[in-house]
Amino acid sequence: MKPIRKIVIPVAGHGTRVLPATKSTPKEMLPVVDRPLIHYVVEEALEAGIEHIVFVTGRGKGALEDYFDHAFELEAGLEAKGKTEILEDVRQPIMTPGSLSYTRQQSPAGLGHAIWCAREIIGDEPFAISLPDVIIRGKPGCLREMVDHYNKCQGNIIAVEEVPREEVNKYGIIAPKSTDEALMEMTGMVEKPSVEDAPSNFSITGRYILQPEIFSLLEKTERGAGNEIQLTDAMAALMTQQPFFACTFSGESHDCGSKIGWLKANLAFATDRPEFVQELQSYVGELF
Ligand code: UTP
Repeated sequence: MKPIRKIVIPVAGHGTRVLPATKSTPKEMLPVVDRPLIHYVVEEALEAGIEHIVFVTGRGKGALEDYFDHAFELEAGLEAKGKTEILEDVRQPIMTPGSLSYTRQQSPAGLGHAIWCAREIIGDEPFAISLPDVIIRGKPGCLREMVDHYNKCQGNIIAVEEVPREEVNKYGIIAPKSTDEALMEMTGMVEKPSVEDAPSNFSITGRYILQPEIFSLLEKTERGAGNEIQLTDAMAALMTQQPFFACTFSGESHDCGSKIGWLKANLAFATDRPEFVQELQSYVGELF
């Protein structure tokens, strides 16, 4: 069995749902409390034992590369002032040389196309994908739990979450064979089904483990919804050839690709920081 060593994190989108904030700042660099979204996503990947991160980037995403690199002047200044705690925080995202790769998607032709751009770096091994606008609150992280499942069942795995039945039309929804286990065998998935037609109320969350055969299928995938090459279309094709599972996870997801999701994430993650809790609670109480 080949272990999950690599992850693809696509960051080439335009983030139109959170404009104008993303006009000159990559969506993935929007902060939640005091660190950018991408920090949480990389931390979750490392906790899952991932050794190599592949970012699929695009124009204007340079800030993201800098975040994972040394900032010599800043670090020297902090060191000179004895600000060791902040210095530690600043250095924390820096990874071992060679464990980060960047490849460029020249135009955002869809999530499926972005993943396909990483094919040469991933090669012939199973790999993970994390969508960086979704951050997960809770330990163990979602990817850790997925890798643990993978080590027992292999195949392809998609993380899912239960959503209220009346809201299934906002999400990608899976069709499970049965729903009585943490790891559910899947028979299909549908994008934004009507409440009446939805095969379940388990929505796709933005974390995947896939086999490398997905790349040849992506190569053949025609443009679909939104005139984009969709990962879901290639996964549906792969599902006819290989086992697919869906797993729930113990944390809670926050979709920071929407304004309200990002606002809620800031509040939720702040409650994990004892230094902010009391003041924030009384302030929110005053506001509403
Ligand atoms: P989204 O559709 O949520 O991101 O894709 P977006 O396109 O940036 O956002 P909106 O819809 O315009 O607001 C999920 C992830 O996939 C990446 C995005 O950067 C995001 O992190 N993505 C999407 C790409 O890298 N390339 C694409 O062509 C599309």
